[in-house]
Amino acid sequence: MRLSSLLSCLLGLANLATSAYTNSSLAFTYDRYNFLLHGEPYQIIGGQMDPQRIPYQYWSKRLLAARAMGLNTVFAYIFWDQVQPTPDTWDFTGRNNIAEYFKLAQEVGLNIVLRAGPYVCGEHEWGGFPSWLSDIDGMVVRSNNAPFLAASKVYLDRLAEEIKPMLVSNGGPVLMAQIENEYGSYGSNHTYMEALRDLFYGAFGDDMVLYTNDGGYSEDIINGQIKGILAETDGGPESGFLARDQYAYPSSLGPQLDGEYYITWLDLWASNQTYDTDVGNPTAIASIVSDLTWTLNNKSSFSLYMFHGGTNFGFQNGADWSKSLTPVITSYDYGAPLTESGGITDIYLALREMIVGYLGNSTTLPAVPKNETPIAIPSIEMKPVVKLFDVLPEPVLADYPTNMEVLGQSQGFTLYRHTVTSSTAGKLIPGDQPRDRLLVYVNQTRVGVIDSIYETYSTVNLELEKGDILDILVENMGRVNYGPRIPDQKKGIVGNVTIGEAVLKGWKMFTLPLVSPASSSSALTDEVTASELATSGPVFYAGIFDIEGEIRDTFLHLANWTKGVVWVNGENLGRYWVVGPQQTLYLPGCYLKEEGNEILVLNLEPSEYMGAVEGVVDRLWGNNPDPDAP
Ligand SMILES: *[C@@H]1O[C@H](CO)[C@@H](O)[C@H](O)[C@H]1NC(C)=O
Ligand SMILES: *[C@@H]1O[C@H](CO)[C@@H](O)[C@H](O)[C@H]1NC(C)=O
Ligand SMILES: *[C@@H]1O[C@H](CO)[C@@H](O)[C@H](O)[C@H]1NC(C)=O
Ligand SMILES: *[C@@H]1O[C@H](CO)[C@@H](O)[C@H](O)[C@H]1NC(C)=O
Ligand SMILES: *[C@@H]1O[C@H](CO)[C@@H](O)[C@H](O)[C@H]1NC(C)=O
Ligand SMILES: *[C@@H]1O[C@H](CO)[C@@H](O)[C@H](O)[C@H]1NC(C)=O
Ligand SMILES: *[C@@H]1O[C@H](CO)[C@@H](O)[C@H](O)[C@H]1NC(C)=O
Ligand SMILES: *[C@@H]1O[C@H](CO)[C@@H](O)[C@H](O)[C@H]1NC(C)=O
Repeated sequence: MRLSSLLSCLLGLANLATSAYTNSSLAFTYDRYNFLLHGEPYQIIGGQMDPQRIPYQYWSKRLLAARAMGLNTVFAYIFWDQVQPTPDTWDFTGRNNIAEYFKLAQEVGLNIVLRAGPYVCGEHEWGGFPSWLSDIDGMVVRSNNAPFLAASKVYLDRLAEEIKPMLVSNGGPVLMAQIENEYGSYGSNHTYMEALRDLFYGAFGDDMVLYTNDGGYSEDIINGQIKGILAETDGGPESGFLARDQYAYPSSLGPQLDGEYYITWLDLWASNQTYDTDVGNPTAIASIVSDLTWTLNNKSSFSLYMFHGGTNFGFQNGADWSKSLTPVITSYDYGAPLTESGGITDIYLALREMIVGYLGNSTTLPAVPKNETPIAIPSIEMKPVVKLFDVLPEPVLADYPTNMEVLGQSQGFTLYRHTVTSSTAGKLIPGDQPRDRLLVYVNQTRVGVIDSIYETYSTVNLELEKGDILDILVENMGRVNYGPRIPDQKKGIVGNVTIGEAVLKGWKMFTLPLVSPASSSSALTDEVTASELATSGPVFYAGIFDIEGEIRDTFLHLANWTKGVVWVNGENLGRYWVVGPQQTLYLPGCYLKEEGNEILVLNLEPSEYMGAVEGVVDRLWGNNPDPDAP
């Protein structure tokens, strides 16, 4: 008895130990200390680069630059909201053509680690979740919740349909997939993580290697791991590695991967901090090189966060939340080795030297790409062509306001209009709390700005007479991607609008997602006169420009333009905001042509005193006071 129970105990232990590793005859697998690609040890020298933040026209050259630095693997977040913009529609075209990105990676000799979420954080709108999730009854995201798991399954199954041929087991470059992202710093429900594991196996096949990735602290690891699934950590190498080995389930141990080695950090609007970068800082670069040399010599793997960050084109940016909203800027440069415009930095060169030194001089890498200097575009004549309030779509009518999501809208702006029926005076309360930045107008004259980036935001007191038209233009500045947004992620107006004691009844609601307003540029004919600007509400400005000489990237500078959105040839380049730190918008050369380029700007706060709009060679960073500060 004793012997057999001892034996079964030993067998049980043996089973437990081997169950941590996947079938050794698989194309990609791992043992206790190594990843194994076709049976050979494979050390991941990786970097993060997300397809949906890069113009697809540039994918090939960005991937080649990654390979030329010595990376062998690219880590890619997939943003769910971009591929499933509504419950019934899918978009795998353009920047969302994930399978194509993976194919191009393979062509230059790079493998892929898939980071498909469903929650990814990534400083992206709601961490990648589609806004329509908040409209589903009983939905609780990032939890063992039936509606959430059902929606996640639909997404993962559809994504798998796209990329199955790209899996390593089918001869493609996709080695493995991460489940969720840093769940251990958010929750601790293992049933949820196990349910997600099963969704991944169901979608991608149960021979796919899966892993979890958490902060390198004991609690994060304990909360985020799944028995039998490889547990990896983020952050600095050595401390995280030690913590993992101490706190992970034995069956979750395997080769160590630093899942996100932070090159620098993200930037936030109005943060009072300028652009975060170690470019031009040899001491800081030496420290990066030292960390990563240690990691390589330790026979461990890493992924640089970011190798190349790209741009939050359109309204892709997320936000932080702590008492107030701090939205992420349009640029996702991240101080990365390869800049937003694909420029080679001193960090890039130092890392390449380190990697070549480690791999040995016989390593052959593609040549370092030549830096393509951006071009300057002389001052573009911008004309105020049409008032936003003159080109509104058909409104939705209701007694009381409803939030953006109920109106079927995810991003952009919603205008709430009320015609005053009896005189009223007092403090304006626009629903339960401002979400996020509200421009308030009476008869199209701006009377206040309520901005939730401030914990104590402005108070707008109004005295309204019968017949006055109250407009509240609400901007969604990005749903919170990290940590909970209190109380929820809804945008627009939630709850009633009151002035003093009076609840305002009778609303017209205009949805302005502004996906591509340039398509309606034929309507942009009437010029708004300078004297009208004060009482016009937001105004679209338009300009036409040609490129003299070679077409390359540039950075648009809208000197002294307070806040708005820019499109060039129909491409939404993102938000600008005088507060900084970002002062220029990346305009990729692939969006330009020789003649007749159309630039359209939604200028939220027009005045007579705006500076020139021009393309500059170097990005400008800096902070300015907020003209609308409370
Ligand atoms: C390992 O994988 C191979 C190839 O998929 C399969 O034929 C074999 O049955 C698997 N072995 C085990 C023990 O699962
Ligand atoms: C996980 O969530 C499920 C469903 O909400 C719940 O029944 C279970 O008790 C939770 N588990 C833990 C460990 O909190
Ligand atoms: C930025 O600095 C200004 C002036 O010092 C201050 O009033 C404001 O609160 C600061 N904002 C943040 C987000 O720290
Ligand atoms: C890697 O580092 C860990 C933690 O310091 C150490 O325990 C391990 O022996 C090292 N492995 C190698 C191959 O150097
Ligand atoms: C690589 O080349 C450099 C410079 O030629 C030399 O100093 C170094 O020893 C070589 N390293 C290896 C591993 O061969
Ligand atoms: C606003 O416009 C309405 C309609 O033209 C008019 O009745 C009202 O007097 C105006 N209010 C102010 C303050 O100008
Ligand atoms: C808005 O006010 C109306 C009238 O007082 C009330 O019936 C309704 O429940 C209120 N809506 C909300 C969301 O509070
Ligand atoms: C921006 O505004 C400031 C203050 O009004 C002015 O000094 C500066 O010249 C303006 N810059 C441009 C480029 O128009």
